[in-house]
Amino acid sequence: MKEQLEQIKNSVEAELSAAESMETLEAIRIKYMGKKGELTAVLKGMGKLSKEERPVIGALANEIRQNLEKEIEEKKAVILAAEEEKKLSEEVIDITMPGKRTKEGKLHPLTQVMNQLKDIFLGMGFSIAEGPEVEYDYYNFEALNIPKDHPARDTQDTFYIEDNIVLRTQTSPMQVRVMEKQKPPIRVIAPGKVFRSDTVDATHSPVFHQIEGLVVDKGVTMADLKGTLEMFVKSLYGKSTQVRFRPHHFPFTEPSAEMDISCFNCGGKGCSMCKGEGWVEILGCGMVHPKVLENCGIDPEEYSGFAFGIGLERVAMGKYDINDLRLFFENDLRFLKQF
Ligand code: DAH
Repeated sequence: MKEQLEQIKNSVEAELSAAESMETLEAIRIKYMGKKGELTAVLKGMGKLSKEERPVIGALANEIRQNLEKEIEEKKAVILAAEEEKKLSEEVIDITMPGKRTKEGKLHPLTQVMNQLKDIFLGMGFSIAEGPEVEYDYYNFEALNIPKDHPARDTQDTFYIEDNIVLRTQTSPMQVRVMEKQKPPIRVIAPGKVFRSDTVDATHSPVFHQIEGLVVDKGVTMADLKGTLEMFVKSLYGKSTQVRFRPHHFPFTEPSAEMDISCFNCGGKGCSMCKGEGWVEILGCGMVHPKVLENCGIDPEEYSGFAFGIGLERVAMGKYDINDLRLFFENDLRFLKQF
């Protein structure tokens, strides 16, 4: 029996030192100390031993059992530590790897051009005024010298909220709102959305943007208007840009004009962009009508002023060579990404 125990002791040691996983350890434990284990069998057979033999063999068997338990525990700790170490090394984060880029949005081309126009006018000493898109008929038409039966109302058909409340068709009502609040000298621009009940096509949209300009002071003349607007387009389109003024009619300015600039595409030679004209219409303008000044409580004998209205979409289309207005409003990223 003693030899048998020695043998168990040796093979336990050999098996333990080769064990590399928790499963093997458990198998070893069962093989020797389980219900049908080899060591268990020896211990069970102790009763058959003689009195003299029993304590010697019992002490040896106990020693082997205790050693086995101790060594299994020690080995367990080693294996767990190794497993932990392996896991950690597999989960290492490579901080030198490039991160995932978050997609960055950017400003809509119309916003970009609007910001550019604002910058130019701020640089010339203008301030910015903002007003309501839902506007009284009085400000949108009446105070601007466009009474109920005026034919100009036909070209600016709009959406009526009530009989006397409309979606503004132009930013010009801001002229009146500013002059009612502020006494001259006045130098403001009023950018914003305007609305007309137009059918959508390549050059029309029921919603578009304008920038209104208004200057009122003592002794303001048409020369100031021309100088200011020429400086504006040269800042926007380049120094070689030429301007021309064509007489026109607007009910709220007298005299009135439309301003053309030499075509940004061909420089004035004539191309498909300017329909062979060499010129492109860019804005409406004029000297503020004395009646409009009066409507706002400003004495036309003492003060004079000029006003202008720029179509933002048209400016952006010219600047970026865009031939269809609808592209601005369709939110197609393939288009928007280009700016
Ligand atoms: N409000 C005009 C329009 O929408 C544009 C305009 C013309 C504005 C002449 C002005 C101006 O201030 O003086 O067609």
